[in-house]
Amino acid sequence: MAFSSPKCPHSSSHFAPSRAPCGNLRDRAFAAPASLQSSPKHLLTRLTSQCKGRDFTAVCRQEAATASTTTAKETTPNGGLLTIPSSSKACRDIAGISTREEEYTVSITVVGASGDLAKKKIFPALFALYDEGSLPKHFTIFGYARSKMTDAELRNMVSKTLTCRLDKRENCGEKMDQFLKRCFYHSGQYNSEQNFADLDKKLKEHEGGKLSNRIFYLSIPPNIFIDVVKCASKSASSTNGWTRVIVEKPFGRDYESSAALTRGLKEYLVEDQIFRIDHYLGKELVENLSVLRFSNLVFEPLWSRQYIRNVQLIFSEEFGTEGRGGYFDNYGIIRDVMQNHLLQILALFAMETPASLDAEDIRNEKVKVIRSIKPLQLENVVIGQYKSHKKRGITYPAYTDDRTVPSDSLTPTFAAAALFIDNARWDGVPFLMKAGKALHTRRAEIRVQFRHVPGNLYKRSFGTDLDRATNELVIRVQPDEAIYLRINNKIPGLGMRLDHSDLNLHYAARYPKEIPDAYERLLLDAIEGERRLFIRSDELDSAWELFTPLLKELEEKKVAPELYPYGSRGPVGAHYLAAKYNVRWGDTNALE
Ligand code: BG6
Repeated sequence: MAFSSPKCPHSSSHFAPSRAPCGNLRDRAFAAPASLQSSPKHLLTRLTSQCKGRDFTAVCRQEAATASTTTAKETTPNGGLLTIPSSSKACRDIAGISTREEEYTVSITVVGASGDLAKKKIFPALFALYDEGSLPKHFTIFGYARSKMTDAELRNMVSKTLTCRLDKRENCGEKMDQFLKRCFYHSGQYNSEQNFADLDKKLKEHEGGKLSNRIFYLSIPPNIFIDVVKCASKSASSTNGWTRVIVEKPFGRDYESSAALTRGLKEYLVEDQIFRIDHYLGKELVENLSVLRFSNLVFEPLWSRQYIRNVQLIFSEEFGTEGRGGYFDNYGIIRDVMQNHLLQILALFAMETPASLDAEDIRNEKVKVIRSIKPLQLENVVIGQYKSHKKRGITYPAYTDDRTVPSDSLTPTFAAAALFIDNARWDGVPFLMKAGKALHTRRAEIRVQFRHVPGNLYKRSFGTDLDRATNELVIRVQPDEAIYLRINNKIPGLGMRLDHSDLNLHYAARYPKEIPDAYERLLLDAIEGERRLFIRSDELDSAWELFTPLLKELEEKKVAPELYPYGSRGPVGAHYLAAKYNVRWGDTNALE
């Protein structure tokens, strides 16, 4: 039995999920009229004829065609699976589909409700969405975990982490109360179908007979993903709406374990029901990357080997793994940050122009980039591990001082790598990644260093080190979001002295409104069925294909990480690696 596989009331055929007509745009839950609950072919005919002569003709026709070719393909091994077809508002209007909020509910079950992620990110993000009116009219939130807790206790726990981020005015407290009234708790084992059946009963009571859409957010360790998905699938999936599952990394430790996890999930779910989060994709400046590039003539034509000398993807944190050493030691920084967050940014940065903003078009282009990356060579990788350091009377611990970490652990807490994309656009351009814990600062940024201007008319002013005078575009993802471009200019006054300055789009100055947390965007997208910012299984496979051989080699050869002091700039090896490709890390630049 798979997640939600009811039959259409007026048809004997299953309406398989996959991509729904116009599903590339925000596909809110809606009640599909009986006339639409027919075969994909009928839907195609109906949509294309209704779209005729309207603004959305091409979009609707193209997407209806996509729906007709892709529906019915994806069924779980356990049989057909129905998700009510969805569509963008524009297309729904054309197709005459009702979207009345009275008619449906959305239930969000946070499995692993007492965990850190749930407390720190998921509940606060749900509240922020509620606060700004982005949740559907009828919604219910359930916490699910093993520990015994009453609804009141859950509310109390959740209330401690909620903040009035958006609404600093008086009514925020009131809103919190209203929100908390919609939160409930169900205690159960993760592998008990009966416990999930009990949850189902409670969900139904809240859904009150409306069309029900359900999300299960798995905020639990991956080794119990499949148990939960199986039980939820058999006992708690929606019978008349959609059911979606949000999962978070780690998706395995290597190619094989990730593939096994995917296979396990797909016993009970089809790909379109799985929302794999990489929360970096929900960050404002990562989302803005494509806008910056594809909507500005001054950037897109320069986006290639012809003008770009190197690209740097930098992640650093000023704290170590204290408190999560047990988890971290099994993964290391390459799996924790590089294989996912930094690689995703790289893929978005380097992809070709997608055919549209459709999730599948974007993800197709990202996969192509990841597949085009040359195999990672050990000599192009530097690993490090932080050691204890005393500064201003305070002693900062070594990674191995953590009692949950073996004292001889070789797990890297820092890594730098040079990657090369083997395609016409990026041939020969080094993409340098650097990720580390317990460094001198917290930062995530993309640095694009351009080539120098041919001819060097100002050589007298610049001297021989031309690379020092090149333009650099920096996209600072966090903290203090900004996009700035370093240019050369003349210092005002008599004579000809040159200087470097930044043209700076500083978000806090330009947009006083606080930027939403990544989880807010991602949760809203999952509710709306927008898959653009989630990782498709083939993307995940290709990411593991790239990193698995390197990880195995590091582990088999027991490569010892270079030790660096807690709070420093990381191992010196990272500078040698960059120098090998004639690159200077931008974040150590004198201008910073
Ligand atoms: C997580 C990693 O995915 O991202 C953590 O597992 C890391 O090790 C975190 O600290 C960083 O996220 P953010 O949003 O705080 O930069």
